[in-house]
Amino acid sequence: ATQGACPFRGTRIGGALGSEPQLDHWWPNRLKVELLHQDPPQSNPLGADFDYAEAVASLDYEALKADIRSFLHTSVEWWPSDYGHYGPQMNRMTWHSAGTYRIADGRGGSSEGLQRFAPINSWWDNGNTDKSRRLLLPIKLKYGSRVSWSDLMMLAGTVALEDMGLPIQGFAFGREDAWEADRATYWGPEGWNGKRPTEAPAHPQEGRPEQMVNRGLRWEGDVKDDHYDLENPLAASHQSLIYVDPEGPNGNGDPMDAARDIRETFARMAMNDEETVALVAGGHAFGKSHGAVPADQIGGAPEVAKMSEMGFGWANPVGTGNAEYTSTNGIEGSWTPNPTRWDNDYLTNLFKFEWEQTRSPAGSLQWTPKDPDAPKTPDAHVPGQMNNLMMMTTDLAFKVDPEYRKICEKFLADFDYFTEAFSKAWHKLIHRDLGPTSRWLGPDQGGTFIWQDPVPEVDHPLVDDAQVADLKRKVLDTGLPVRELVAAAWASASTYRDSDKRGGANGARVQIAPQRGWDVNNPAQLDRVLRTLEGIKAEFDAQGATKISMADLIVLAGCAGVEKAARDGGHEVTVPFVPGRTDATAEWTDEESFEWLKPVVDGFRNYVNEDVGYHVAAEHLFLDKAALLKLTAPEWTALTGGLRVLDQNWDGSDWGIFTTRRGVLSNDFFKVLVSMDYAWKPHTEDERTFDLVERATGQTKWKATRCDLVFGVNTELRQVSEFYAGSDGEASLVRDFVKAWHKVMMLDRFDAKAARKAA
Ligand code: HEM
Repeated sequence: ATQGACPFRGTRIGGALGSEPQLDHWWPNRLKVELLHQDPPQSNPLGADFDYAEAVASLDYEALKADIRSFLHTSVEWWPSDYGHYGPQMNRMTWHSAGTYRIADGRGGSSEGLQRFAPINSWWDNGNTDKSRRLLLPIKLKYGSRVSWSDLMMLAGTVALEDMGLPIQGFAFGREDAWEADRATYWGPEGWNGKRPTEAPAHPQEGRPEQMVNRGLRWEGDVKDDHYDLENPLAASHQSLIYVDPEGPNGNGDPMDAARDIRETFARMAMNDEETVALVAGGHAFGKSHGAVPADQIGGAPEVAKMSEMGFGWANPVGTGNAEYTSTNGIEGSWTPNPTRWDNDYLTNLFKFEWEQTRSPAGSLQWTPKDPDAPKTPDAHVPGQMNNLMMMTTDLAFKVDPEYRKICEKFLADFDYFTEAFSKAWHKLIHRDLGPTSRWLGPDQGGTFIWQDPVPEVDHPLVDDAQVADLKRKVLDTGLPVRELVAAAWASASTYRDSDKRGGANGARVQIAPQRGWDVNNPAQLDRVLRTLEGIKAEFDAQGATKISMADLIVLAGCAGVEKAARDGGHEVTVPFVPGRTDATAEWTDEESFEWLKPVVDGFRNYVNEDVGYHVAAEHLFLDKAALLKLTAPEWTALTGGLRVLDQNWDGSDWGIFTTRRGVLSNDFFKVLVSMDYAWKPHTEDERTFDLVERATGQTKWKATRCDLVFGVNTELRQVSEFYAGSDGEASLVRDFVKAWHKVMMLDRFDAKAARKAA
């Protein structure tokens, strides 16, 4: 050792708080268990007692809307409005916030206002939405915590549409803000040509900024090729875009290719062809695109901008840097002669004229009418100046694609039909990830739609404690094994995902297609349980006014199973049960959209759907499942260890069932997992499955998957496993398992929370 050397020298040069190298830089493939503990209460200044439902109830909705309307018409000097109306600009911000939603994992979307944080705030496609949010700030400050940023962002673009003439379907509040960036969402590979964002200048290549050229592509193969595919679960074709490249895939200017990209990305956003055309043709009836200045002159995104820019990015040094000098996407111009009024001019002009390729002042590829007599559109700022109309390659997609074209023709022939289609698609877009209507707040929520996954209201008295005890006894008396009771309840409740608040036990959709037939649910076994429970329900319901729904009974039967399993291990526990679920019908179940809830990996049941092409190890997707179930690391560990000894593998296999007492709630799983009595021998080089070989005898005692062994390998999970393996661990495990079980059963019970408050 060098004598006298400062022991802290490493921290003086580049080792300060937050600098690299951090864990993730050294070990990029580590399992990021900390993703389970995001957006903790410590980051939220509202405090634990804050109740957003109460806050919204105290809000004067009409006054708020009136304030937004008046703001839309009041231009400010630091960012003057186009055409004297902030409506189109607000609408784009709103759409971009909601449009990150993807149905595969329910992530993205409007619900937490994540557009305010990295990386989304700094995506190229969100250019100048920083200005839109800042323009709204006075209203946010006026209403304070009575309206969340995420609700206000949705409302602004909706009031804008209404103000410009579109009848709206209503508006629901209920989105609660995150207070830190979300790190759990996989947006696809970031990084620009191997460079970090700070190193990547906005570079023109034929006028296209570096971020848009040939990197961060989300698709594989050639766009013209049959093998063309977007990486699952992504719903944008390109890094830093919300959806697709307006200049065509990778800027190729081909409307047919653009159509292919649009169809794929919007389908993953849960929109069909008609909804897609309605949304884009509807949105582009308004406003303009901004491309006055080449991208190489525009400053960095907000995350890398100078401190003096006060959180803004994309500083524009030309002219005033705003108004007629604005450069956002790079394309320049408006689609219609009257960009602040709801009309059918977008489709009319798209179809009436031939369009030819041209370039904007910023160098971006766009289209202009061939016909010199085509209508012109007034400049957004320069009085008296008239400009050519503009279409993007993605707009022309609707004209050239035969299916889209048919829809456009229908919309052209029937403006009222188009108006309703747009209004409804907009309503779906901005509420898609708000979850069941029991979460919806405010006085003007609109009608009922199938995409809300509706469940009926409770229309009968609910079971009391004595009846619950009686029903549990009846369930156990049927002789159905613990394994099957627990499996049915888990199958029902565990579809919940906190990303878009869909799924869960309420509605009992586990007894309806497609869930009833999913292989992960072991349909034959599930059927047996459901038939038996139907018998108990019929008998119970016949006795009087009090009824029990199948949704409740499935959960109750699972609770009875868990209690028995604990009792058989010598632990007397009562698993909490809160009635009030109701049964949905097949008629009100959108099969296609429920198929998306089928797990890719459910490590709790040692299930891996090999048909889904993820290039990620199973334990990472298992972590993702735990995150979508809102579990903490100890809850995740306790549930897995408990479900293993309760014999919950979907196919009845032995993976990870480290016990000779199946169906008894014990800590056997953890005792074997942490023991050095065993060596773990992989079956194949890629280490998907293993034998646990007793060192003393050389005999194979158990077998396991990655989703079992990860709890012994990962340093943080291992600490929890050792805790449960300890001599006093079993009692803790039983306690924690029951708590975590109850939590999962209640994840979708927003109705119960509301009822508790009201009581
Ligand atoms: C503006 C692309 C879908 C509403 C823009 C701009 C681009 C674009 C490049 C110009 C941004 C700028 O430079 O200021 C696309 C593409 C879409 C799409 C490629 C899908 C294929 C939608 C949808 C809506 C929408 C679904 C809303 C329902 C708007 C509005 C503007 C706009 C209102 C004008 C913003 C302003 O005036 O400041 N769009 N868009 N767009 N978009 Fe879209």
